Amino acid sequence: MTDTQARKADHIRICLEEDVRFEEQTHGLERYRFEHCCLPELDCDRIELSTEFLGKSLGAPLLISSMTGGTERAKTINRRLAVVAQTYKLAMGVGSQRVAIERPEVADTFAVRDLAPDILLFANLGAVQLNYTYGLRQCLQAVELLEADALILHLNPLQECIQPQGDRDFSQLLDKIELICSKLPVPVIVKEVGNGISAKMARVLIEAGVGAIDVAGAGGTSWAKVESQRSHSPMQRRLGQTFADWGLPTAECVVSIRQQYRDVPLIASGGLRNGLDAAKAIALGADLAGLAFPFLQAASDSAAATDELAQLLLAELRTVLFCTGNANIFALKQSNCLQKLAP
Ligand SMILES: Cc1cc2nc3c(=O)[nH]c(=O)nc-3n(C[C@H](O)[C@H](O)[C@H](O)COP(=O)(O)O)c2cc1C
Repeated sequence: MTDTQARKADHIRICLEEDVRFEEQTHGLERYRFEHCCLPELDCDRIELSTEFLGKSLGAPLLISSMTGGTERAKTINRRLAVVAQTYKLAMGVGSQRVAIERPEVADTFAVRDLAPDILLFANLGAVQLNYTYGLRQCLQAVELLEADALILHLNPLQECIQPQGDRDFSQLLDKIELICSKLPVPVIVKEVGNGISAKMARVLIEAGVGAIDVAGAGGTSWAKVESQRSHSPMQRRLGQTFADWGLPTAECVVSIRQQYRDVPLIASGGLRNGLDAAKAIALGADLAGLAFPFLQAASDSAAATDELAQLLLAELRTVLFCTGNANIFALKQSNCLQKLAP
């Protein structure tokens, strides 16, 4: 097993076995409440959850966030997730494909197109790798390997700081991201990994040509805590603990980016744990709601648990639409039925 593979295996194990949630910082969605509609004048069974993102139609505005690949366990997880994504027409990302570029023989642990021929599928690489020998060729390779509809470049400065031997040279990365955006034949999505993207940084990224933003805000899985758990050095462990709660809450990122950019394709993720969270994120202005940890938990359990989670998320979304009197996702977005609670 290479170092990168061992790291991927650690990530799954630590996320599942340790408490790596943010400690006090929340995603901020609890500060909002839907206005209940006692007379929806709708047939709940006819509520329409379908939507579109980056030109592809989806059964619901849900994304299985980027997580894994590179090991046999990761392969099982990816394949269970892909089956569910195909069944319910959800979008899906895979974890960083760096390991598959280093070792093409593990490419099959990411490849899911055979199971999910129709889904909106996202390739994934760390943007910082563009400072460590990666370029357009590796980005193309990641997209082709997956037959992906878009490439996610993730930004994870805090994680790299806490990670033993992390890649910490983020200098002049924006120019390289801009180059990839201009040359890659599919859109580039930039995401964080749980520390959020501010409106100021969204502006810079949009001007560089990114096709969509996934805020991946604070309030869910804390990567400072994950890397702190992985570290054998007491100093790195304490460093990670200090930054356990670092980052911009998901709700704040979505609101501030949507205020500036009415039309940028926007994904809310980071701490979303059910369909009610997802509906709030969408009512705040996101086009898709992404969940990582809940799908990891379900998919490492069984195919049936993964299917049940998807069904539950859809039922929760549908219930919000029904009980707010909205017949479809477009209506929910326009409705103004989410109230901010007094502090
Ligand atoms: C086991 C695991 C592995 C992850 N690996 C990646 C990755 O390779 N690339 C990436 O962009 N995000 C990765 N993430 C981050 C998630 O996509 C997401 O941004 C973050 O976990 C916050 O979402 P959550 O609170 O729903 O877990 C990973 C998450 C988990 C749980």
